[in-house]
Amino acid sequence: MTENTISQHGQWSSRFAFILAATGSAVGLGNIWKFPYIVGENGGGAFVLIYLFCVIGVGIPIMMAEIMLGRRGRHSPINTMERLTAEAKADPNWHYLGWMGVIAGFLILAYYSVIAGWSLAYIIKAFFGDFINQDAIQIAQLYEQFIASPIQQIFWHTIFMAFTMNIVGRGVNAGLEQSARFLIPALFSLMFLLVAYAMTTGSYFQGLHFLFSVDFSKLSSDAFLIALGQAFFSLGLGMGSIMIYGAYLPKNISIARTSVIIAGADTLVALLAGIVIFPIVFENGLAPSEGPGLIFKILPIAFGQMTGGWLIGVFFFILLFFAALTSAVALIEPAVAWLIEHQQISRKTACIWAGLAAWLLGIGVALSFNIWSTFKLFDKNLFGLLDYLTSNLMLPIGGFCIAIFAGWIMNSEHSRSELALAKPEFYLLWKQLVCYIAPVAVFCVFLHVVGVI
Ligand code: PHE
Repeated sequence: MTENTISQHGQWSSRFAFILAATGSAVGLGNIWKFPYIVGENGGGAFVLIYLFCVIGVGIPIMMAEIMLGRRGRHSPINTMERLTAEAKADPNWHYLGWMGVIAGFLILAYYSVIAGWSLAYIIKAFFGDFINQDAIQIAQLYEQFIASPIQQIFWHTIFMAFTMNIVGRGVNAGLEQSARFLIPALFSLMFLLVAYAMTTGSYFQGLHFLFSVDFSKLSSDAFLIALGQAFFSLGLGMGSIMIYGAYLPKNISIARTSVIIAGADTLVALLAGIVIFPIVFENGLAPSEGPGLIFKILPIAFGQMTGGWLIGVFFFILLFFAALTSAVALIEPAVAWLIEHQQISRKTACIWAGLAAWLLGIGVALSFNIWSTFKLFDKNLFGLLDYLTSNLMLPIGGFCIAIFAGWIMNSEHSRSELALAKPEFYLLWKQLVCYIAPVAVFCVFLHVVGVI
């Protein structure tokens, strides 16, 4: 069918370009904002170990499956699923999997952009020395005042969205690929710089000890499920981002090898974020189990008091911004690609429509922190609702279906030739993982989030 064609949207210019772009999609707020605080809440090293098992045993096989489906379909997730369904003579309803991905990306971007906007605002705050010599109460006040201001929330969200759509509008090579070529090396450099700083703090080893010393008695009872859910979000699986990136992947590039590299880089950044954050937390006598406020409410206290904290603070929030930007472009690309294919409009026009729609929904999210905070559905404001709906329901369902489709529905000859693994045993191993292990594990996460287990 589609064996030798190139996607109408273009293709990555090299294996390295794909690795950078896909690493950009994976490395995001999930690594720098979320990973450290859930490690903090769930007992440190033992949790990290379980997380690593989840990435290797479930994350990588599903990532391979998703990239493979994308490369074989060569279109937006909706049209890819339609083609693959026809090829496999499967139930046409499978194409709703593509729809769910496009919608999930769009919904995630709406709130992701608001939080990413905070990173922009905090770069400015750090730069102008707003944290200097402020105590915990003043820093908390700064944060509360900031999120209580509808104008500021909308302003930063708008700026972030403009950055995102500007990149996506330039297309696969001049936009997604070019930006990743600059942002990902910059992100890693900043990260290593911050690690070097963390090494100079007196609490460096205490931080390392917290992250890497395995004590199973500290593990929370649902740590496995939390770890698996996080692996999913962090690797950016289950919603078509990595599928559309796979659609731009040249035929001769090994899916297995690149998946391992991408998952490895994503995990490395999450661990480095922990290596940076925990020594700063301990050095300043703060609690690692602070929760979601760890980055915006806790770290600035430290930045305001430590030597060199001004510069470190600015770098830290720039790092967060870069990480969020390369994920945001991946979140909206499936919708943009679909609009181009379906409406036969130019990429720029598609970006304007998709960007405007996500921006509008994002305004609702921005206001859900202040003037609309009392509007609640299922006891959640719009931000909480979108986060729950996407990360807890749509991504696991998407990942589950991708594993089932790749493992059970797609013709084995097709998946074998797409993956082109070096040894037959590797293919068998992958097949076992996507047919049995991954679906069962993801199903358990799903049961957990809906409260059954
Ligand atoms: N992986 C990104 C993060 O860690 C979020 C993301 C989810 C990106 C799904 C793309 C697809 O923040």
